[in-house]
Amino acid sequence: MKVGKIIKVSGPLVVAEGMDEANVYDVVQVSDRKLIGEIIEMRGDRASIQVYEETTGIGPGEPVYTTGEPLSVELGPGLIESMFDGIQRPLNAIMELVGDFLEKGVVVPSLNREKLWKFTPTVKVGDEVSQGDVIGTVQETTVVLHKIMVPAGISGTVKEIREGEFTVVDTVCVLESGEELMMMQKWPVRKQRGYESKINPDEPLVTGQRVIDTFFPITKGGTAAVPGPFGSGKTVVQHQLAKWADSEIVVYVGCGERGNEMTDVLLEFPEIKDPKTGESLMKRTVLIANTSNMPVAAREASIYTGITIAEYFRDMGYSVAIMADSTSRWAEALREMSGRLEEMPGDEGYPAYLGSRAAEFYERAGKVNCYGSDNRIGALTIIGAVSPPGGDISEPVSQATLRIVKVFWGLDASLAYRRHFPAINWMNSYSLYQSKVDGWMNQNVHENFADNRIKAMSLLQEESSLQEIVRLVGRDSLSETDQLKLEASKSIREDFLQQNAFHEVDTYASLDKQNLMLDLVLHFYDEGLRALKNGIYLSDLINLEIRDKIARAKYLDESDIGKIADIKTELTKIMDDLIAEGGILNA
Ligand SMILES: Nc1ncnc2c1ncn2[C@@H]1O[C@H](COP(=O)(O)OP(=O)(O)O)[C@@H](O)[C@H]1O
Ligand SMILES: [Mg+2]
Repeated sequence: MKVGKIIKVSGPLVVAEGMDEANVYDVVQVSDRKLIGEIIEMRGDRASIQVYEETTGIGPGEPVYTTGEPLSVELGPGLIESMFDGIQRPLNAIMELVGDFLEKGVVVPSLNREKLWKFTPTVKVGDEVSQGDVIGTVQETTVVLHKIMVPAGISGTVKEIREGEFTVVDTVCVLESGEELMMMQKWPVRKQRGYESKINPDEPLVTGQRVIDTFFPITKGGTAAVPGPFGSGKTVVQHQLAKWADSEIVVYVGCGERGNEMTDVLLEFPEIKDPKTGESLMKRTVLIANTSNMPVAAREASIYTGITIAEYFRDMGYSVAIMADSTSRWAEALREMSGRLEEMPGDEGYPAYLGSRAAEFYERAGKVNCYGSDNRIGALTIIGAVSPPGGDISEPVSQATLRIVKVFWGLDASLAYRRHFPAINWMNSYSLYQSKVDGWMNQNVHENFADNRIKAMSLLQEESSLQEIVRLVGRDSLSETDQLKLEASKSIREDFLQQNAFHEVDTYASLDKQNLMLDLVLHFYDEGLRALKNGIYLSDLINLEIRDKIARAKYLDESDIGKIADIKTELTKIMDDLIAEGGILNA
């Protein structure tokens, strides 16, 4: 292969000439230190290269070697429980995140080449196989059964199939054509992995977060954005979803944010038990870290590395969720490279292709019929944090994202300031999956689920206009019924929507618990109305001691949620008594 020559170095951008044999998106090695880079533009024999490592000390005249291959990830056993950088180099110690993480130009294979995995074949000699067919399995962790699939573009008759312990690069299957298959396959990160067909996502991804599941649900295979200013809780929302969402595989991409947040993940996740499997959360998690102290260009690549790994597990027929915190840092990396390439800047300096790149990323989400003859269905859900400067979502990255995603969880600085967490603003957030999920909830949780949600939401909306009146003319000018509405909405906000991520019990609420809690809060409103009609004073209702029990229902363990129904019965009884007494007094 011809060797190119550096003519210019500008931060992460290196321009080299004599590169006429190379192509856009080829991976290159820059200088004899073999820094890893990717060609992002070709003009004649000149290649503009995005370099994924620090370029200090590199200068004109030094060589550039093309590999002739696009930026790819290695897919196979060993992904789960691992942490990689933006271009899938393994990061093994927490120390690496906060300190010096990798020597320059070090070539470490992404997947361990020595480790032996127990391969159990699922095909036999003479079977016809083609792309996506499962030829065997590896129990990768206690919860993840890794399916070894025939790579794209390969098909034939099985001539030989092995059983036993192998490394990811050992041959486990030979086809009549002579083609040898190993457990590992490669895939270029910028290209979407294929599938048979897309299916409409209709089943909720249950997150255990009340404001999300009940009010603004996301589906398995759906897309959501979490925009919010600094400190509003984006990272906490992403962590909560990574911990509690009922997906089988989680890929968490820390993109350009603080390294200590990834350290938190590394320290916490192994300790937390998945409510479904009872196993540590790390047993189903892949981490990608390209934190703020790491080279900026690799940040751009990190979300593609993450999504490709996520697609690979989707192809096995799993429900996968990927969180990217924050996609704004990805967009900023894109902007920085575009500036150095001296491209025509668009809005706020972002390149004109920001919107199409963001769309290409989110379009990789979906529920699909996978390749392979066993009718697997996989789902890939994408949840992206967005960090608009000052929280103003009129900026380009927020706008580009909102045009694509179907769920918007708008985090609000004033709610966070009042310590209403999660600070998801119920007045402007939305989920376009709502109507589909309503049907599912009514069928699988409770027939009144959607009705209760609609009722609660309309109370919250009324609250907001009533508060306007209160500001102008004072609370006393409101009718008792309207004042009761304010009390009920306050209870929806404080007793239902607010959820403490750091409380052992409150951190996760099952759908049954969410349903019982909202039903209880609304029961107070209904019973309050009945009491008012029967001549009971509002002040007597507001000060009822049982309200304390309503407020504390969130701290009831999942095994104790039956008690929530008991509180409801008790509430009815108290109201009956109050009305009976009041009736005597009024007589
Ligand atoms: N659900 C929650 N429960 C309790 N505290 C929260 C919650 N969400 C956010 N917080 C508080 O807000 C702080 C900032 O949240 P963080 O996710 O780091 O913000 P961001 O990523 O938007 O900058 C957290 O450290 C925590 O104290
Ligand atoms: Mg954050």
